[in-house]
Amino acid sequence: MQVAEFSQRFEGLFGTRPQIFRAPGRVNLIGEHTDYNDGFVMPAAVGFFTFVAITARPDRKLVIRSEQFSGSFEFDLGHLPPQRTGDWCDYVLGVATVLRQHGHQLAGADMLIHGEVPIGAGLSSSAAIEVASALALLSLGDAKVALPEIAKLCRQAENNFVGARVGIMDPFVSCMGKAGHAILLDCRSLEPQFISIPANLRLVVCNTMVKHDLATGAYNTRRAECEEGVKCFAKYDPRIRALRDVSPDLLEQHARDLPPTIWKRCCHVVLENQRAVDAARALADGDLGRVRELMRESHRSLRDLYEVSCRELDIMVEAAEDLPGFCGGRMTGGGFGGCTVNLVCQENAGEFAAKMAERYQRATGIAPHIYTCSAEDGVRALS
Ligand code: GLA
Repeated sequence: MQVAEFSQRFEGLFGTRPQIFRAPGRVNLIGEHTDYNDGFVMPAAVGFFTFVAITARPDRKLVIRSEQFSGSFEFDLGHLPPQRTGDWCDYVLGVATVLRQHGHQLAGADMLIHGEVPIGAGLSSSAAIEVASALALLSLGDAKVALPEIAKLCRQAENNFVGARVGIMDPFVSCMGKAGHAILLDCRSLEPQFISIPANLRLVVCNTMVKHDLATGAYNTRRAECEEGVKCFAKYDPRIRALRDVSPDLLEQHARDLPPTIWKRCCHVVLENQRAVDAARALADGDLGRVRELMRESHRSLRDLYEVSCRELDIMVEAAEDLPGFCGGRMTGGGFGGCTVNLVCQENAGEFAAKMAERYQRATGIAPHIYTCSAEDGVRALS
């Protein structure tokens, strides 16, 4: 996107010269459905961005517009709606509401949003708009808020205002991403470890172009099942507060004591946490064979134990297996459609993308979108 042009379009609409912020979407390399279990994830920010342009207004109005999404929204900062309105502006409104609840004085503002993160593809378009909006709104005041804190506020906006019970992974990596690196994040302490991705690898993201309706309902069901698992294990050890605290040994010991579905879900989470930590070490050591093995196990576990994959994702994952330069792949994000992420040697990335598109389309009749990405920096001000 041409930033100068975006700025001019803002000037054309509002008559003032804006400040511009941009926040990235993400892929998750491994550690899926572990963030809301206080576990480990390993995402990387990728080069799809949401841009937010902003200027202060003399009154107490918040005016939100976008060139891609319809509607022009106007709210009085003194009377922000307490809950979602059902429109895309909810992501901005949610952030404004949470910032106010945390005592930040917001100024009236004109805002223009331009989103390039594919929507509904599991690449975290909502976190990108929330994070960029939070920085934009805060820029009009003088409070300095640390990026991990902004990530927490955005998660709250999503949980309490938009009404999606997501974890911290997406806003965290959109805030804290680092070019050339994945982040191994401990979702309990929020301590990040930056893991360098070998320079000759590309992140090839394959969009199945499907999003099954199940996604939101099933996400909440999985969360509830994990909570039930915690209750079961807490009976054996009262120190257990989250599935993060369950060891593989304890899991094994009680394989027959838990309802079978709950046990399968717990099994995925406990072993996925271990896989995320192991994959970070293997990636840092350049042991790509091990990374590949762990990503494969992760996908199988999401497919068979956590049951959040779907036919299209499985086809996309299998299509990669024997292609030259392939160093590991799996579904990424919540599941039931969206994308797979693949680590591919740079020199093979073009051919890999072409072959994946051909194979997937032959098997499903759907033309996928394939993006060749690198890990990027998190949110920043552009002007
Ligand atoms: C979605 C949520 C994340 C995370 C993933 C699954 O992307 O937004 O918080 O739970 O699903 O790993």
